[in-house]
Amino acid sequence: THVVTENCIKCKYTDCVDVCPVDCFREGPNFLVIDPDECIDCAVCIPECPANAIFAEEDLPSDQLAFIKINAELTPKFKSITKRKAALPDADDWNGKPGKLDQLER
Ligand code: F3S
Repeated sequence: THVVTENCIKCKYTDCVDVCPVDCFREGPNFLVIDPDECIDCAVCIPECPANAIFAEEDLPSDQLAFIKINAELTPKFKSITKRKAALPDADDWNGKPGKLDQLER
């Protein structure tokens, strides 16, 4: 599967959802996740993300491994999103900031 990681938090650009052929993105208040049961590992979303937040599971940076579980756990709680929408208002300010996991709204 592919995994949405920490740098999506408080950015949520949503460019990723437009290219997903299986509509596997799920939206929360300030973060998206990928449904690990729906993702077909096509990888087309990776270069679309302005925050470089999406990785194949096997390519995850070691400090982002917790996001495998986070994507799986939040998938049933979040709602399907299939069309791009406006990013969060301060997305460009938060892009690249470390330590955003504390800000994740579930
Ligand atoms: Fe998040 Fe990047 Fe998609 S910031 S909403 S994973 S385009």
